[in-house]
Amino acid sequence: MHPMLNIAIRAARSAGNLIIRSLQHVEHLEVTTKGRNDFVSDVDRLAEQEIINAIQKSYPEHAILAEESGLHGDNEVVWVIDPLDGTKNFLHGFPHYCVSIAIMVKGKIEHGVIYDPLRDELFTASRGAGAKLNDRRLRVTKRKELEGGLLATGFPFKYPQHFASYLQTFNAVFPQVADIRRTGSAALDLAYVAAGRLDGYWEIGLEKWDLAAGALLIEEAGGVVSDFVGGDDYYNNGNIVVGNLPLHQQILDSITPHLTDELKK
Ligand code: IPD
Ligand code: CA
Ligand code: CA
Repeated sequence: MHPMLNIAIRAARSAGNLIIRSLQHVEHLEVTTKGRNDFVSDVDRLAEQEIINAIQKSYPEHAILAEESGLHGDNEVVWVIDPLDGTKNFLHGFPHYCVSIAIMVKGKIEHGVIYDPLRDELFTASRGAGAKLNDRRLRVTKRKELEGGLLATGFPFKYPQHFASYLQTFNAVFPQVADIRRTGSAALDLAYVAAGRLDGYWEIGLEKWDLAAGALLIEEAGGVVSDFVGGDDYYNNGNIVVGNLPLHQQILDSITPHLTDELKK
């Protein structure tokens, strides 16, 4: 295993343990609002600090892009961190959230870790070396048609300007599949597609830390990741569609006719 992946795993596990310990006093946490429907607690900040400390102990020269504290340093290696993906679930006692850490080298995602502390599920990937859940190799599903498929999606709760367009994409996809989940953790949605638990997923307006690790997991599990025009700018524009090869194309074909020009950029 690559030494950087090893540190990422150690950091994700210790943040996960901190999140689990804080469950005992979740109702007393001070919660602040970062933006429309966007909240943060001390647990997000403490988990993030725990991860940053673990990275800086081994790699003090590397740069870090973390959700709650922004960009630290300037280096060709950047650690992209979501200390708690699924904050709303966590704050409501809805048991579905994770820690996500990706390592980018010269602008390319090279390693990714997603850790679900409640189920003790560790998803890992390194470019060219495959994706794993704990010790098991991951593959995306083999389904060829949307019919019978189980997808996930995210609602654009921060972006009222996209509500109408999003609902049209939903209306286009929903009648074709067996069902659609909205789990509240984009990183776990991506990990679940890599693990073959979901057939595909799409969401508008993700941040880099929501998707970096999960996108690599999917590619390494044999799946396809793109933005809404089938390109690879999802890391920058935050609009993402994933699935195995045929289903990725079918989801894309279903949603693109309903997108505004802004979402096609
Ligand atoms: C959020 C979750 C959610 C997605 C949002 C993200 P957070 O991340 O991943 O599923 O729909 O777009 O912001 O705020 O819980 O880290
Ligand atoms: Ca997130
Ligand atoms: Ca978060």
